[in-house]
Amino acid sequence: MKATAKAHTNIALIKYWGKRNESIILPTNNSLSLTLDGFYTTTTVAFDDSLSEDRFKLDNQLIAGDQYNRVTAFLELIRKMAGKHIYADVESVNDVPTAAGFASSASGFAALAAAGTKAIGLNLTNQELSQLTRQGSGSACRSIYGGFAEWEMGTKEDGSDSYAVPIAPADHWDIRVAAVVLSSTKKKVSSRTGMKRTVETSPFFQGWIDSIPNDLTQIKHGIQDRDFQKVGEIAEANCLKMHATTLGANPPFTYWHDTTLAVMQTIQEMRAQGIPAYFTIDAGPNVKVLYLPEHEKNVEQTLINLPGVSDIRLSKPGQGVTYL
Ligand code: DP6
Repeated sequence: MKATAKAHTNIALIKYWGKRNESIILPTNNSLSLTLDGFYTTTTVAFDDSLSEDRFKLDNQLIAGDQYNRVTAFLELIRKMAGKHIYADVESVNDVPTAAGFASSASGFAALAAAGTKAIGLNLTNQELSQLTRQGSGSACRSIYGGFAEWEMGTKEDGSDSYAVPIAPADHWDIRVAAVVLSSTKKKVSSRTGMKRTVETSPFFQGWIDSIPNDLTQIKHGIQDRDFQKVGEIAEANCLKMHATTLGANPPFTYWHDTTLAVMQTIQEMRAQGIPAYFTIDAGPNVKVLYLPEHEKNVEQTLINLPGVSDIRLSKPGQGVTYL
């Protein structure tokens, strides 16, 4: 009753920003992401009759508190599905530097769902696995697939039609992502809290939701045609719209720091000089830059020399969940 799985994190090009059901995590809009090879979590789950509670080790440290509670609540879903009441030993190793501003929860819950269901003897389809993973962390449901994936919000209130579907595999297109790590990365509002506050109070929220269907249609054409300018322009604009909703919230907030803006402006200046590069930003101050392989050196050199930038982590499209 033991299994190991590996899952990569993903970066949303069309953001998930808003829940219509917080307990089983149902979103207010479809989202679309690219799975990245550079950042991943490897998790081993072993169900064991002799345990009297779950145990969770992350990077070799025993975890308690909120992080433990989220893991054990998720294992409870797996136990219910399997109809078995056995506790588990969970060991996760993160290759997602928290400083890079990637939600390790995406690769974390995808790996936990895959290893946990396999260990308990469930043989889920990718669709079932994605639907389950969604309940650990929304964005994680997209990490079941490699390459480009879309999370369909669904319409049913039991969540049975809310899961990710593959759009194009990792080898469809060698598009690159540079994670720009800033020296000061203090995050004040978690994505969960920020999303909730935006839905409940921002007058810009409805405008955000109304703009999604067209962004999705256009970006999917761009991905199929490998049209970098189209994909980049839509992703950057979609990110700016998401961040605009936070300025309208009550109390208002932003994830941006001064260096975040400096990186954004640098990318726009690079474009003016003929280097195609676009940015996107999640619920934190770090910036992710989309570019094509032939511009890698230029992008990396320009960004690493900016004051306030401490590191650049480069990534290619990554694979979906694998079992080790
Ligand atoms: C800005 O998936 O971390 O990165 O479902 O509450 O766990 P929960 O939220 P989470 O939110 C991710 C928000 C985002 C956009 C995205 O990844 O689509």
